[in-house]
Amino acid sequence: MLPPRPGLSRWAMSVGFMLRPTDFVEACAADCGDFFTLRPAPGRQVVFTSDPQAVRQVFTGDPALLHAGAGNVTLAPLLGPGSVLLLDGAEHLRHRKLLLPPFHGDRMRGHADVMREVAERHVARWPRDRAFAVLPSMQAMTLEIILRVVFGVSDPVARQRLGDPLRVLLEEMASPVRLLALGLTGSRRRGPLSPWRRFARLRALADARVHEEIARRRADPDAAGRDDVFSMLVAARDEQGRALTDDELRDELMTLLVAGHETTATALAWALERIVRHPAVHARLRAEQAAGGTAYLDAVIRETLRLRPVVPAVVRELQAPMTFGGWDLPAGVSIAPSIYLLHRRPDLYPEPLAFRPERFLDRAPGTYEWIPFGGSVRRCLGASFALLEMRELLGVVLREVPLRAGSRGDGEATRRRTVTFAPADGGRILVGA
Ligand code: HEM
Repeated sequence: MLPPRPGLSRWAMSVGFMLRPTDFVEACAADCGDFFTLRPAPGRQVVFTSDPQAVRQVFTGDPALLHAGAGNVTLAPLLGPGSVLLLDGAEHLRHRKLLLPPFHGDRMRGHADVMREVAERHVARWPRDRAFAVLPSMQAMTLEIILRVVFGVSDPVARQRLGDPLRVLLEEMASPVRLLALGLTGSRRRGPLSPWRRFARLRALADARVHEEIARRRADPDAAGRDDVFSMLVAARDEQGRALTDDELRDELMTLLVAGHETTATALAWALERIVRHPAVHARLRAEQAAGGTAYLDAVIRETLRLRPVVPAVVRELQAPMTFGGWDLPAGVSIAPSIYLLHRRPDLYPEPLAFRPERFLDRAPGTYEWIPFGGSVRRCLGASFALLEMRELLGVVLREVPLRAGSRGDGEATRRRTVTFAPADGGRILVGA
């Protein structure tokens, strides 16, 4: 038997899931407890859990029995079949091993200068006389950083040629309504008004630019000496000496862009949304920056990702029957650790709703209690990259400008964008003491 379904009407479920995602998930937990079942699509059953023991079991379980690829299938039209996010089993591990070395923390630290330079230029252009949503600026920064650090495109004209169609494509997929329409119409209906047709046109242009870049990189005699992720992927070989094909490279580059751009920008917007509403935290951060430290900033980043995780859950499809928390789940059902609910458990985090970075100053986050980057062989490949980028970008903001909240109230609601939970007003801030 599956765990209970929340006692909400079908309509309330669909609307809540899309438009009021955090209220919805909290209502489900209030109604059903640590395990509840949702049917996001016909024939698909997902058991959400915030039970720490079950979460640990998912992350320490056999990956051959807990497939992640199926859970990311809504992104398949964008990512392509060769994406590490969609693969499982041996092929997933092969891609993951090729992707891991360029994302190693030590190697990433070599890109800190680029991150700071990008942030300084963007922050200098922030309006000084009015409140504004910081998310679009953060998106511009993280896109530029991905294009430089991952794609290795330093020339601004080339970056625009590649970046513009990619940005338009990502924006198209950011709206949950459009994503839903795309899923509903599917690739079969290609009439003139089909959202699929528009999407396919945008994707074809973006793909053409990515393939241009792949051809250029393959022909580059200096590629071996370059330190961007793309050049390293072109040179990477698996244990059988095989390289990634052009199509696999395209899919992985698109994956890194989709997985790394919006997520990090959203986390940065949430961090500022929280910081400006906590003047004591803000003052301590600025003092720490002036003294050249980062320990408190790192704690603020961890606390932001705890209380406002940008990816709300991870999903694994069972390949065999398994038992979680006394519930016997059949093969084919998915289990989804709810990052959002786990991070708000009072037994793990006393006064869980309080934004209190100090809780991470004297203790490192628990591997199975703090999971903004998921876990197991699927743990986020870009976690070191994202944490470094957050530290560098927030450091620049804190050093360069005094800030205030740009809207009233004790915080912004949450809005769903593609795979992320974002601040509903984009993180409104005001530059000025
Ligand atoms: C704050 C920023 C980010 C957050 C919160 C985040 C979160 C996540 C989460 C929750 C997963 C799924 C893990 C699982 O299923 O257990 C994931 C996977 C992944 N992320 Fe991130 N991510 C971030 C930034 C990045 C960046 C910057 C990159 C690369 C440029 C990246 C690349 C990936 C990739 C390739 C995967 C798939 C790993 C696999 O399936 O083996 N992410 N991320």
